[in-house]
Amino acid sequence: MIRGGKPLKGTVAVSGAKNATLALMPAAMLAPGTFHFANTPALRDVGTMSSLLRSMGMRIELKGNVLTLDTKRITKHEAPYEHVKKMRASVYVLGPLVARFGEAKVSLPGGCAWGPRPVNLHIEGIRKLGATVELEGGYIIAHAARLQGARIHFDVSSVGATGNVMMAATLAQGTTLIDNAAIEPEITALAEFLVAMGARIDGIGTNRLEIEGVETLHPADCTTIPDRIEAGTFLVAAAITGGSVTLTSVNASHLSAVIAKLEDAGCTVRCEGATVSLEAPGTIRPVDVTAAIYPGFPTDMQAQWTTLMAVASGTSVVTDSIYFDRFKHVPELVRLGADVEVKENAAVVRGVERLTGAKVMSTDLRASASLILAGLVAEGTTEVLRVYHIDRGYEAIEKKLHSLGADIRREAGEEF
Ligand code: EPZ
Repeated sequence: MIRGGKPLKGTVAVSGAKNATLALMPAAMLAPGTFHFANTPALRDVGTMSSLLRSMGMRIELKGNVLTLDTKRITKHEAPYEHVKKMRASVYVLGPLVARFGEAKVSLPGGCAWGPRPVNLHIEGIRKLGATVELEGGYIIAHAARLQGARIHFDVSSVGATGNVMMAATLAQGTTLIDNAAIEPEITALAEFLVAMGARIDGIGTNRLEIEGVETLHPADCTTIPDRIEAGTFLVAAAITGGSVTLTSVNASHLSAVIAKLEDAGCTVRCEGATVSLEAPGTIRPVDVTAAIYPGFPTDMQAQWTTLMAVASGTSVVTDSIYFDRFKHVPELVRLGADVEVKENAAVVRGVERLTGAKVMSTDLRASASLILAGLVAEGTTEVLRVYHIDRGYEAIEKKLHSLGADIRREAGEEF
C-alpha cells in the first residue's frame, strides 16, 4: 500500500547484486570445500538457488549478509523442474555439474512472463566443449568424461550462456575461446571469482575470453558487487518524487548509462567514491532510451524508466532491443492514468500531469518495481498486488523506501 506524493530524502545503502550472487553460488560447485560470500542480498531468488543446491547435497547458510557454502558432499547432479520453473537462473548449474562431475540433468526453464527466453546457446556451448547433450522429457541431459577446450562464437551476446560456458571451460582440457562474450559487471565479477579459485582466464571485461583449463580448482571467498539495478531503481524513485537521495555502497561506473539518462532528464547527479547522490529537477524532461547489452541502458531498468517518462513534460520512446515484449507493466501504468502505447518493442510515452492511485497487479520483478515507483508519485493510494515478485530481487524494499520518507507498508493481501 503506497500513499504517493512524498519527495524522498536521505541516504540508503545498496545491497549486493542478485544477478552476481545467482552465478557465484553454482560456481562454487566447481571445487570441494567451504566458501564465504560477503554482501549477499537476502532475497527470495537467493533462497530458491539455495534450496536447489541443497537438494544436490550442498550445505548453505546465510547469516546476516554472509553466505557460507560447503560443496564437499554433492551427490545429486540434477536440477528438477520444481526448482527450475521458479527461477531461470537455475540453469547456471549445467556448466559446473558437467565440468566437475561429468554429468548433469537440468530441467529446461519453460515459460517466462515475457519472452521467449531460450537456452540454446548454453546447450550449444556445452556441446562444443565436447559433452553429449540430449533433450529428453523436458530435461537437458549432458555427459562428458572430461570437457575439451574449443572456440565458441555466440551469435547473440548472452549473460547466462557466457557464464555457464566460462564456468565449464575452467576445468576443460586445453584452451577455450569465447567470442562475443557478455561483459555485464556480473560476468566480470564471476570471472574474477573463478580466477580467485585458481582458474586461468584472459580478456576479463572484454567480449573475447580465453580460458585455459586446469585440473582442479580450490575454494575462495569473495564480496558480492553492489546491485546496479537496485541502485538505478532508487535513483529513479528520487527523481520521480522530486526528492534528494544519496546511495551508499554503490559502484557508479556500473550505472553510467542510467546516470547519463537521468542527467538528460534534468537531474543533478554527483558520484563520489562509493556514493551516488541525486537531486531531482522541478520538471522531468522526456528522454528516449533503448535498452541494450552492457554498457548500454539495462533492460532491467526499462520498466522503471517508462514510469518516470509517464510523468515527464512531453513525449518519449522507450525501446527494448533485448526482450521484444517486456511491456507487461504498461497496462497497469495506464490503470494509474499513464498515457502509454506499445508498438512492437517500443513504448510511446506521452507524459501526463499526474497519476492517480489504484489497484495494480505485478507480473514480474522489474514490472513490480515500476508500479511501486508509480505509486510513490500517484495521488492517493496505490495497492500493488503480488509483491512476491519484488521480493525476488529487492531486499526489504519497503523498509528502505520508508527510511527515505515514503508512505509505504506491506499488508497481507488476497491470494490471486
Ligand atoms: C540475465 O538473464 C539477467 N538474469 C536478466 O535479469 C537480464 O534481463 C538479462 O541477463 C539481460 O541483461 C540473471 O543474470 C540471472 P541473456 P539471461 O542470456 O542470462 C537471448 C532481472 O530482472 N538468448 O543475456 O537469461 C535471450 O532470449 C533478470 O534481474 C538466446 O537467444 O539473459 C535474450 O533475448 C530478468 N539464447 C538475449 O539473448 C540463449 O541461449 C539476452 O539474454 C540465451 C539467451
